Amino acid sequence: MDGAVGADGVEAVRVRFLGRKGLLADEFRRMGELGPDERRARGAALNELKVFCEKRLADARDRLAAGVRSAAGVDVTLPGRRAPAGVAHPVMTTLRDICEVFRLAGFDIASGPEVETDRYNFEALNIPPDHPARDMHDTFYLADSNPKSKIQNPKFLLRTHTSPVQIRVMEKQKPPVRVIAPGRVYRRDDDVSHTPMFHQVEGLWVDAGVTLSDLKGLLEYFAKSIFGEGVRLRFRPSFFPFTEPSLEVDVSCVICGGGMHSRSCRTCKSTGWLEILGAGMVHPNVFRSVRYDSRRVTGLAFGMGVERITMLRYAIDDIRLFYENDIRFLQALSL
Ligand code: PHE
Repeated sequence: MDGAVGADGVEAVRVRFLGRKGLLADEFRRMGELGPDERRARGAALNELKVFCEKRLADARDRLAAGVRSAAGVDVTLPGRRAPAGVAHPVMTTLRDICEVFRLAGFDIASGPEVETDRYNFEALNIPPDHPARDMHDTFYLADSNPKSKIQNPKFLLRTHTSPVQIRVMEKQKPPVRVIAPGRVYRRDDDVSHTPMFHQVEGLWVDAGVTLSDLKGLLEYFAKSIFGEGVRLRFRPSFFPFTEPSLEVDVSCVICGGGMHSRSCRTCKSTGWLEILGAGMVHPNVFRSVRYDSRRVTGLAFGMGVERITMLRYAIDDIRLFYENDIRFLQALSL
């Protein structure tokens, strides 16, 4: 009877056993064929059975009414045990916020593989073979796992930056292009401000007439959206093989407010400025490698470190805390 599910099930069992045409009624009817002694004994037994069945049916109805199914051995009326709800990792929260800021500025999201080839990670980005970034000390190279590979010189590596996505996007798509590429990158580095895996967001905007002032305006909008309206930006000349001119961008120190009030800020080393990204105008050699006509289009590109930006937002001074999986650290940040 416990197998009967729901009120309909219980009623079906009742009709089958105790109904006017049910099994018990049949048995009572068949008593007519018996002698007086046998009939008395059978009558008593059948009555007992009837009482038993009625009791079990009543019990089943009670259990249904209380919302309890003993078949499963579970009292579903008890309050549930709450599983603690997780929160997004702070790096992921920042990554999401950055993507949203650029989405509002009309950028699409692009992605590429984390295992790259030399061509995408270096060559097509105008990084010559003797460039220090290719050094074994910086780059994780993969052993060629397929000896039958048709590629002449298969050289797989873990991408050291998200810039190869620039090449992949431009190879597939004609200008105008306006994308960001968030993702993981890998370098052989491990100290208070470097982990072997970290996240970057790449940006690329190619069209007729994109200028350095577009780059400045866009990054100003980005920094204010992420760090607040009060933040100031500084653009410094720099060098990247895939941009010309190249620049590095600093924000006024989010901890001491730009060194105007504090003489001893550990975060900005009292310089008042914090470097947050590299940027520049796409180098003509990069356009050449994807067959874009650099007489017709210009482009801006930038790349930022997501861990670094997260550290500045939450005033975290050791990047390794992100990847130690200490729940107290994650809980403190989610408050
Ligand atoms: N890829 C560069 C880095 O990882 C950052 C960068 C991206 C610089 C795009 C300029 C343009 O350091």
